[in-house]
Amino acid sequence: MAAEFVWVPKAAAIAQEAGARLREFLAQGVETEYKGDVDLVTVADRTVEKLIRRRLGEAFPEHGIYGEEGTRERLDGEFRWYVDPLDGTTNFAHGFPQFCVSLGLEQRPVGLEVGQDGTLVAAVIYDPMRDELFTAERGRGARLNGKPMRVSKTPELAESLVATGFPSSKRHDSPNIHFYQEFTLRSHGVRRAGSAALDLAYIAAGRMDAFWEFNLNPWDTAAGILLVEEAGGMVTDFSGGKYKLDSREILASNGLIHAELLGLFGDMFAGRDLSPIPTPREFALRRAARAAENTNLG
Ligand code: IPD
Ligand code: CA
Ligand code: CA
Repeated sequence: MAAEFVWVPKAAAIAQEAGARLREFLAQGVETEYKGDVDLVTVADRTVEKLIRRRLGEAFPEHGIYGEEGTRERLDGEFRWYVDPLDGTTNFAHGFPQFCVSLGLEQRPVGLEVGQDGTLVAAVIYDPMRDELFTAERGRGARLNGKPMRVSKTPELAESLVATGFPSSKRHDSPNIHFYQEFTLRSHGVRRAGSAALDLAYIAAGRMDAFWEFNLNPWDTAAGILLVEEAGGMVTDFSGGKYKLDSREILASNGLIHAELLGLFGDMFAGRDLSPIPTPREFALRRAARAAENTNLG
């Protein structure tokens, strides 16, 4: 028999209520504002964070809350929820139906210093468009809509479907497009679906085999990390070190392909072993040369 969850039942009800609000906002249409260059926010993000804040406060009055849209409450307590009320805002703003609510619970022993990580103990990610609820608690397993879920058994990158995302601020500082290229050439494909929390949930559910991203925040990753770990997968930084909530780099996988992925990261950071592809200019020249050859033959 599966172990009873302690925090998940109430948190799942909150995520489902929040998700229902997101569905309503999507149907009615919302205006988009800019937090930065292409960093979008909507009234849905703010309203739903307020709703989650109120509900978590009612359900777990002692627990702290750290939310993307600014909630900072009771951060000196033993428990802290990392809240992303709407992960995938850009998708949401365009009506692209890939977004979710993400709630991750960290237990922080008394005396732990600011900046040090406690232990992630509960996770809820809810996809309101597919009515899919991904849940986990430390030591009690991971579930999708109440049924146990496991990571995939894919043994190598060449047979894998993988995922990544790109930052919405300081876009010109990110080297990720190089990793995107290399992973694309060495796998079944790289998906950039626009919700890091759902990407992690999909690794946990065995729908994809690995995920990496630069510069995520704890509200993007806290719940997803526990889902992956409890589903039998592995989460580290790009050097294979223990993942910390402020690591700014995350590599999650089914565990079986983790060493291979770390090797590739190592090679790429050292400038080794990259697959050459033509520049658009080189491609255009070759295309023109082929066209000229065909004309001469004709
Ligand atoms: C974003 C999504 C996206 C990722 C970005 C995040 P938001 O979160 O998770 O997939 O690539 O880095 O900022 O802004 O939609 O909550
Ligand atoms: Ca997010
Ligand atoms: Ca968000």
